[in-house]
Amino acid sequence: MPNHILAKHISAYVGKEVTLKGWVYNIRKSGKIWFLIFRDGTEFIQCVVLKDQVPDGVFELKSTLTQESSLAVSGIVQEAPRQEAGYEILVNNIEIYHISEEYPIALKEHGVEFLLDKRHLWLRSRGPYAILKIRAELEQACRDFFNERDFTLVDSPMFTPNAAEGSTTLFETQYFDRKAYLTQSGQLYSEAAIMAHNRTYCFGPCFRAEKSKTRRHLTEFWMIEPEMAFYDIHDDMDLAEEFVEYLVQRALNKCRRELQILERDISKLESVKRPFPRITYDEALKILHKKGLELSWGEDLGAPHESAISEDFDRPVMIWRWPAASKAFYMKRDPEDERYVLGVDMIAPEGHGEIIGGSQREEDIKVLLERIEKEQLPKEDFEWFLDLRRFGSVPHSGFGLGLERTVGWICGTHHIRECIPWPRTMVRLKP
Ligand code: 4AD
Ligand code: MG
Repeated sequence: MPNHILAKHISAYVGKEVTLKGWVYNIRKSGKIWFLIFRDGTEFIQCVVLKDQVPDGVFELKSTLTQESSLAVSGIVQEAPRQEAGYEILVNNIEIYHISEEYPIALKEHGVEFLLDKRHLWLRSRGPYAILKIRAELEQACRDFFNERDFTLVDSPMFTPNAAEGSTTLFETQYFDRKAYLTQSGQLYSEAAIMAHNRTYCFGPCFRAEKSKTRRHLTEFWMIEPEMAFYDIHDDMDLAEEFVEYLVQRALNKCRRELQILERDISKLESVKRPFPRITYDEALKILHKKGLELSWGEDLGAPHESAISEDFDRPVMIWRWPAASKAFYMKRDPEDERYVLGVDMIAPEGHGEIIGGSQREEDIKVLLERIEKEQLPKEDFEWFLDLRRFGSVPHSGFGLGLERTVGWICGTHHIRECIPWPRTMVRLKP
């Protein structure tokens, strides 16, 4: 066992001597006392250095220590209700590992492009630190939610022979002597997996050659996709809202400190309780018309439309029953009106946009074949998918939740590129 503790466990050591190992976040000096704001990747702790309590050499470190120098700090833990962390350290000794060169990210405002170029260092700053901690907690929550509900994790492949979500955003790659595509969604594979496991989910990166430079699009993002046999669109929506409520509750229960670092308005998250409002696409159009945002029937909603609709609600809203032309080939036709499909989008509050896309799936091979022909999809590549409708076809449904958009909403982050450790966009492939 190492002889140091992690800063997050400091509350268990009040009145005792501990050693912490980490980095200098900041230093404040005033005469016979100086303060080291220390971080070790689990908490930010103020360490108090008093001239008459430490050897001279340690006190003089105030002029040699630089931001991001690495060190071991030993001292007595004290309660400090006025400190964010609630505790501080009265320092006895400091040992240096490395004196950092001049750190490019000073504790002042920098342009976001500069910070993204320095992402390998920017990860250490308070904001990115808190966001990635919340992301990690939510990833775990995604797995817990489905594992607790009889779902089996069945991973889908990253290399695929065909498009799942439209050919315009496919990344093509050389695959020996032919072409392959990076997956846009694991859904089609999950549709096969549920015939073996009844309820499944897959969770991994998805790739889309999005030419848009919006604050909601990445070219590489993570999606969690549950798929359920014998679920209709209503069961699908019930599960989606239960899942999203669960994720928000997890953040509220486990990530208070990180949400505080991000200065997130917690009350906005506390109102995220089931049931979520459900409106049809046609009702959404009416709301938009009232707000003076015109959209002709059949067109997909854009970011301004989604924001306008989310304004009216204090929790996510589900828009369902979409015009067939605006949605993917695999969605089930509404038996009551052929012009519609049983698809659903969930729109996050506060203008964070669509976090979930899902649907009941077309289980009738004839209808599916018509859609494949109409959209001129290569039928040979979908033969295996059609088999699922030949051998014990069942009604089924599923959805995909975009991890970064969900993290962005829960954290209150402006741009989703901050919600993934190493963002990939149309204009960014480095570091
Ligand atoms: O609505 P989408 O395209 O749905 C599907 O891919 C379905 N096959 C999912 C399913 O039913 N199993 O994408 C689902 C979600 C979106 O709501 C959004 O949150 C996220 O994935 N998403 C993106 N996130 C970041 N950058 C992008 N370029 C994204 N494209 C989709
Ligand atoms: Mg969608």
